[in-house]
Amino acid sequence: MTTIINLNDIERKAAEQISHNAHEYYVGGGADEITIAENKRAFQEISLLPRVLRNVSHRSLETSLLGQTFAMPIGIAPTAMQRLAHTDGELATARAAAAMNVPMILSTTSTIALEDVARVKGVSLWFQVYVYKDREATRELAQRAAQNGCKALVLTVDTPYLGKREREIRSGFHLPPNMELPNYRALGTTSVSQGKEESGLARHFTENIDPALTWKDVEWLRTVSGLPVVVKGILRSDDATMAVEHGAAGIIVSNHGGRQVDTALATIRALPAIAEAVENRLDIMLDGGVRRGTDVLKALALGAKAVFLGRPVLWGLGYDGEQGVKRVLEILRDEFDLAMALCGCRNVAEITRDLLYE
Ligand SMILES: Cc1cc2nc3c(=O)[nH]c(=O)nc-3n(C[C@H](O)[C@H](O)[C@H](O)COP(=O)(O)O)c2cc1C
Repeated sequence: MTTIINLNDIERKAAEQISHNAHEYYVGGGADEITIAENKRAFQEISLLPRVLRNVSHRSLETSLLGQTFAMPIGIAPTAMQRLAHTDGELATARAAAAMNVPMILSTTSTIALEDVARVKGVSLWFQVYVYKDREATRELAQRAAQNGCKALVLTVDTPYLGKREREIRSGFHLPPNMELPNYRALGTTSVSQGKEESGLARHFTENIDPALTWKDVEWLRTVSGLPVVVKGILRSDDATMAVEHGAAGIIVSNHGGRQVDTALATIRALPAIAEAVENRLDIMLDGGVRRGTDVLKALALGAKAVFLGRPVLWGLGYDGEQGVKRVLEILRDEFDLAMALCGCRNVAEITRDLLYE
């Protein structure tokens, strides 16, 4: 029996349990997968300078994001097709998020309908939007998110086309016939069949997602939905400033977990310049390669209010459904809490940049 101590253990267990089709889809990234490795390595290359003798016997991890209070500065990033990992899919993730009081971002490309996930008691659901070429269908989807109690729209901006994901091409990625993408129903296309020279998903994307998106669409989405809009996929400080100017409530510093343009900068390296440009005018969040409690602390020290987890949640689902996702969140929470204590921090406001050796 393998002992589960950290997120790498859960990844190993999940890899044994899920299909090859799902594993290659989840684990992979763009081209040579340089950015995937860099996201993690960049965290490891930052050294901490712990503060001592601060009476850290009582600590609070509480965090506010978009005006809501959560148990900790860790949330669930949108990842597509979670039923590939576990039959309960996005419902299991939402239940775990609710139990742990963290936000969950639901992907447009979910395998369970937005309405059904939104019904999970106590979940703070944010809806990730890919804007379809059919703007009326997009408007309808954004309004469905608002009507079903989603707290924000998360507009993913790094994906006018899908990155070149060679593992998906090699493994002939497809959605099994018993699964569909119900949020695409308005377009009359809910399946992803196997492609020949490109992945089925890449083809589905090219057919349905609008590569003509611009900054104006941030305001359009806010107007049609009445929801705060978070822009996901920012790596540059000038784009972060544009997000402020176009009324975004937040940004997620992200390179899509290394799945879009390969050799894009590691997110933790992109963060400092962005934080400096934004100056607290909106909530900055980050995802990509967060696997340890010290990674969370480093992101907060460099100006993020919270981090989000992509693949670790999928591994948790594959390992043990709702319980597995809870386990992932508990492990990271406990590591982060310990990192705070060992660095002399009693709350998230005390996590400051001088804790890093620069
Ligand atoms: C299998 C998989 C599917 C994803 N699907 C989406 C998606 O539908 N929409 C989106 O905005 N981001 C998607 N992402 C990107 C994640 O939201 C997030 O940016 C990334 O996974 C964070 O990096 P990490 O996996 O190292 O934590 C996906 C990532 C993975 C691994």
